[in-house]
Amino acid sequence: MPSKPSTTSVPSISCPPDKSITHRVLFLAAMARGRSRVVRPLLSGDTRATINCLAGLGVRFHESGDVVEVDSPGIAGWHKPGAPLYAGNSGTTARFLAGVLSACPGMEAVITGDASLSRRPMRRVLDLLEQAGATSAASDTLPVTVHGRRLKAFDVRSPHGSAQVKTAMVLAALTCDGVSRVTLPDGSRNHTEILCANLGLPVTASRQGGVETITVHGPAEINPFEVTVPGDPSSAAFIVAAALLSGTGVIIRGVCGNPLRSAFLDVLDQAGVVVQRTPVASHEFTEPAEDWVVEAAATRGVMRPAGEIPAAWVPAIIDEIPVLATILAFAPGRSLFRGVGELRVKESDRLAGTIRLLEAAGCAARAIGDDLEIAGGLTPAALKSFEFDPAGDHRLAMAAMVLEMVSEFVAQKTCTISDRSCVEVSFPDFPAVLTSLRNSAQTSSPSRKRGILS
Ligand code: S3P
Repeated sequence: MPSKPSTTSVPSISCPPDKSITHRVLFLAAMARGRSRVVRPLLSGDTRATINCLAGLGVRFHESGDVVEVDSPGIAGWHKPGAPLYAGNSGTTARFLAGVLSACPGMEAVITGDASLSRRPMRRVLDLLEQAGATSAASDTLPVTVHGRRLKAFDVRSPHGSAQVKTAMVLAALTCDGVSRVTLPDGSRNHTEILCANLGLPVTASRQGGVETITVHGPAEINPFEVTVPGDPSSAAFIVAAALLSGTGVIIRGVCGNPLRSAFLDVLDQAGVVVQRTPVASHEFTEPAEDWVVEAAATRGVMRPAGEIPAAWVPAIIDEIPVLATILAFAPGRSLFRGVGELRVKESDRLAGTIRLLEAAGCAARAIGDDLEIAGGLTPAALKSFEFDPAGDHRLAMAAMVLEMVSEFVAQKTCTISDRSCVEVSFPDFPAVLTSLRNSAQTSSPSRKRGILS
């Protein structure tokens, strides 16, 4: 058992709000008729894309301090947008829009995105919507033109264990008359189901034999509401990584404790690294929140290879694989992520990008089919002065910035990362958080400067 940490001199960081939950809350508030209040939403590139697209449909937003008020005529009062709805870099925005707009009678809308989003697959949503009777014009990628109509209740099955697909169908089903079902491989994040249950909406989930089915009794009347968004475990993962690898401790406050989002801590646990979790005694959040404590020098002498991480875990760690790979590069041996092919269709080809990053830093890594193998064995002494292009992908940029911090701080080597501005997509304050951790590591005892090394 790890000893209880001394938290007195450890920096304490408030976790940035959750991106996935913010998108969902904004969509449901826009579908409700009246004024909703979203407390502590994430305001970043991706969620602002959602706000701008919903504003194009006639929904009004008012920001004041850490609250966003959403004034909506309700989904029945949305108008046709006067211009294409630009989802920017946000796959969540584009896929949720495709779902909900397909079920809006009389709607005509074009959904577009930036160069990265315009390469990402939309068929996974459009195919199911077409099975449900929707019509849209698209090959597989944006731009997509949606011709909305009243949909009948549907029963569809997705081969993808994707929360974006699931949510797109649930948002559509909320408007349908009758009982709709969407069935998909189990394990993807369930914020939509939890939020709908909190709002008293007729959405239920059941699981059996690795498959989940979401049932929606439509049509549902969505009333305006107020919710507080908990912290984002995917953003917290980068803070955890920076603290672990630089050897400094950190407390991250108010992280969403949903097990389908915090499973990367189970991977760390498998690698011998323990992050302590304390529930936050508050009912203000939509989901239970926790404080996470990384002890100073938490990895020193205890880290081992994570071994094999099964494919069944992947939906629950999908956004954390680049940062987990970065940590596991320093384990004394091989780790293997099974079945991570989905990384190829994220904001960039994240499988190739993660391998590029590790190799640039001096750790061998390779794809074996859809598996990712990390040789491990990296040490600060062996860490190279790397150059890395994150290809506009926020999570690759943040993983590279963590490695850069270790490289510069622990090994006094200089790195070059082209275009860090993409961190704005999910974690605009990340550079400032990293600087504060670095300062804290600098002022702590010189022995901590050895970071993860035993
Ligand atoms: C998300 C679901 C995941 C995740 C993405 C956000 C969501 O995508 O990678 O960053 O908010 O529903 P998939 O549903 O495509 O796996």
